Amino acid sequence: MKSAVLLTTSALAVLAAAQQTAYGQCGGQGWTGATSCVSGYTCTYSNDFYSQCVPGTAATTASTKTTTTKSTTTSKTTTTKTSTTKTSTTKTSTTKSTTTPIQTTLSTTTTAGPTTQVPSGSFTVEGFARNNPTGTISGGAGGSTTTVSAYAAFTSAVKSNTAKVVYVSGIITLTAKVKVGSNTSILGLGSNSGVTGKTLSLSSVDNIIIRNMKISEVKGDDLITISSSTRVWIDHNELFNGGLGNGPDYYDGQIDIIHASDYITVSWNYFHDHWKCSLVGNSDSNRAEDFGHLHVTYHHNYWKNMGTRGPAGRFGHQHIYNNLYEDYHYQAIHSRSDNQVLVEGNVFRGDTPEALSTYGLVIPMDSPNTCTCGDQELDGYANLGAANDWGSSTYNITRTGTFTSAGYSYNLTPLSSVESIVKAGVGVGKI
Ligand SMILES: *[C@@H]1O[C@H](CO)[C@@H](O)[C@H](O)[C@H]1NC(C)=O
Ligand SMILES: *[C@@H]1O[C@H](CO)[C@@H](O)[C@H](O)[C@H]1NC(C)=O
Repeated sequence: MKSAVLLTTSALAVLAAAQQTAYGQCGGQGWTGATSCVSGYTCTYSNDFYSQCVPGTAATTASTKTTTTKSTTTSKTTTTKTSTTKTSTTKTSTTKSTTTPIQTTLSTTTTAGPTTQVPSGSFTVEGFARNNPTGTISGGAGGSTTTVSAYAAFTSAVKSNTAKVVYVSGIITLTAKVKVGSNTSILGLGSNSGVTGKTLSLSSVDNIIIRNMKISEVKGDDLITISSSTRVWIDHNELFNGGLGNGPDYYDGQIDIIHASDYITVSWNYFHDHWKCSLVGNSDSNRAEDFGHLHVTYHHNYWKNMGTRGPAGRFGHQHIYNNLYEDYHYQAIHSRSDNQVLVEGNVFRGDTPEALSTYGLVIPMDSPNTCTCGDQELDGYANLGAANDWGSSTYNITRTGTFTSAGYSYNLTPLSSVESIVKAGVGVGKI
């Protein structure tokens, strides 16, 4: 009789010692795969659910957990956490900051952490616009409904604070900045509706949803500015300008989130052909106002042919998951001035040299204010959750922070599906 599958002790040892490839998962609760990495990579603890093979060599061993099996009649298994096995690379910190970052505790109605793997992703609101101390965002639900197709009708339809749903039909050219009131949903109809020419301004307002809109071509200002505002959901829009040919300041941001704004979700948007995408916190001298605010969730967005700020955060917390970055030419995610980011399940492609940096230098390509060599701010913090696919991009994490869990539940798309799911699901005409 031919021996079927008979694993000898040494064969088992070989299997157990199989090495994970670059950026693959190598540990975490429930993980049964390889716990060591190929040459040049080190298994690095991200959180209790994920360790990942990142470039570098370890000062200590790779595994984050040791398992001992007691041979009693029922064969109990105990898992022991060995904190000493966290590698030194995740612990490196420069002590430039005099302020201790605060992890804001959120009241949540759901179990924290990614619970479901939804291959197609979810189009329901997730993240800080859903889980926040005020309550889930509702926009204009339950209020009046109007359909508008011209500038004057649009501005008057969106300005009050009473609940209202404003449907936009066709592309409306704005001749001045439009102020949007609280308790508003702005919903584009079909696959070619939206606004162009001037900024949508959300200033000192609460509870606003903007979906299925094409938003474009604002010279010298933002497409959307969110200032001193709470609970905003920017979902399934297409935001674009005329490319990078005129430098970083010809246009301004696509979605800038400033002045202690809070509890915002930016999901399923198609951002393209623009330099500075999304600034969170507009000055390193605004610590007193901004610190402890600026909680923003970015998920399932597609960024294509962009320059910087995908996003760039100061003083806040941004949870960035399942986004696709393609040709993000200078720097994608930047966490500076004691900002914290939790970065997981993202995919980086094309000409995207730097996926993530917490180094405080505001690079010259991001329009620094004082020196052509760049402005120096305090470093930020970054934590890596579920594995990212960095492609050929590098990242520079100078300080790991305390933002190891978003504090809410959310649907995490499996990494191998992110590119196709995001391309298929973003932008207008999908909801
Ligand atoms: C938004 O609507 C809620 C519920 O009707 C109301 O309590 C709140 O005052 C409104 N917001 C503003 C800024 O008027
Ligand atoms: C990474 O950060 C360090 C500071 O910790 C800095 O010296 C280095 O220049 C950074 N690398 C890049 C590519 O920005």
